[in-house]
Amino acid sequence: MSFGNRLLRSSVGGRTCNYDGTVTDVWKNFEKRFADGGVGGIVSTTFHVNKERLSPPQYPSIATRRHMLHLKQRLPEIQQGGRCRYIVQIGDPGYVTYSSLFSEDQDGLSSSDGRDFAFGYNSRRHAMSPQQIERSITEHAAAASRAREAGADGIEITAGKGYLIHQFLNPAINRRQDDWGGSEDKRFRLLDEVLKAVRAAVGKDFLVGVRLSGADFNASPLLLSFGRWPSPLVSTAMRRGNDVDQMARYAKRMQGVDYLHVVAGYGFPNPHDVAGAFPFQEIRIFFDSVRHLSSKAGWRAALAHFPLPVRALHWFTNLGWNPAFRSLGLANELKKQLPSMMVITNGSYETLESLDKGLEHCDLVSMARALIANPDLISAYLNHDKDVPETKRCTRCNRCVGRTTTSPLGCYDVSRFGGSHSRMLSEIMKWNRPDRVPGEEDEQQPDA
Ligand SMILES: Cc1cc2nc3c(=O)[nH]c(=O)nc-3n(C[C@H](O)[C@H](O)[C@H](O)COP(=O)(O)O)c2cc1C
Repeated sequence: MSFGNRLLRSSVGGRTCNYDGTVTDVWKNFEKRFADGGVGGIVSTTFHVNKERLSPPQYPSIATRRHMLHLKQRLPEIQQGGRCRYIVQIGDPGYVTYSSLFSEDQDGLSSSDGRDFAFGYNSRRHAMSPQQIERSITEHAAAASRAREAGADGIEITAGKGYLIHQFLNPAINRRQDDWGGSEDKRFRLLDEVLKAVRAAVGKDFLVGVRLSGADFNASPLLLSFGRWPSPLVSTAMRRGNDVDQMARYAKRMQGVDYLHVVAGYGFPNPHDVAGAFPFQEIRIFFDSVRHLSSKAGWRAALAHFPLPVRALHWFTNLGWNPAFRSLGLANELKKQLPSMMVITNGSYETLESLDKGLEHCDLVSMARALIANPDLISAYLNHDKDVPETKRCTRCNRCVGRTTTSPLGCYDVSRFGGSHSRMLSEIMKWNRPDRVPGEEDEQQPDA
């Protein structure tokens, strides 16, 4: 399989689907906007593999045949006859599940027992039984096979972002002492078995990638790791988590993998992945929206309303966050250690100079926020070889990140719209349009 160019849209998830996880016209039009903008391919958000997991609400699922059929119906409009490749990312968030309609025990499932004040809504995470682990392997394989049947060009297994497989790989989260934890080999076992089952399900001639964190940085930023137990501060190994050499060792053992999509850090959001600001006000909205789900979520929301000026809270929660460009080094190192593996580098790419740097060592570059800010960025680069003016670039305020589970997807930095909320809203609505119905084209569009 080939790509029209080496620039991809990275995974972007949000409330674009039906409550049962079937994709909608809004989902299709959101994705299509990037395809129209000239990207060579799109990696989807994580489609849930587990049919009980309906959360966050309105995120996509591929846990049943019905989900597959809805996807199959809409994919061709995004792929545009092969011009834009579409890779379906599949996974299970385990205990980092962000929200839910009701509190569900299974949203706290993980590699082992523990606590995490920042990620997930459940007060505690719980060790999965061997049967639950086996079931998850089967679910990943079935989901991969459905993605192929739906007409996707490939699948990507989420082994990063603090999702379930990452929870097994990460030595600070996986404290098991059975066949699934306790040593480097055993922590790798879930990913290994998922990969084997997925390859067996999709066959040899189908693209299979892995979204892998280049390094865990367990204790960074301190604030996010502070409320995690067992604490990453108790030993150096736990503080660091897997480093890039450990991840390279895992990558060398992966069987049947065509590419790595490299991300950085543990959990979403974290500053190694989405470099920039911690979007305090948006995260507070998110905390408020899930405060009813557990005592932890209630406390977290209450703390976010601590009686201090918002500026002070913003400053405090931004400790350890900055706009530095961190993940390139990790992707380069993985490429160096695995020269025959296709490596997609990701994180803060936007300018031509940064893209050149990324493409110098890695095979493809993927972008998320830069394209939400300017969906036509790639066409502009390919046709005019010119950077977008600084005033139009993504400011890495990460408000889009903070709002993913509470609001329609789009850019929420009003400064990029000359301070006009109505212009910002109109752009957000462009991202969230259903298909037009007859007669609609006669009406004046709000942004016309
Ligand atoms: C609004 C938003 C939603 C995201 N959703 C996902 C997701 O569902 N799965 C995933 O692996 N990454 C997700 N990401 C992370 C991006 O794929 C990417 O790793 C990150 O934004 C860094 O790349 P960038 O600097 O080009 O934005 C999301 C990012 C944003 C901004």
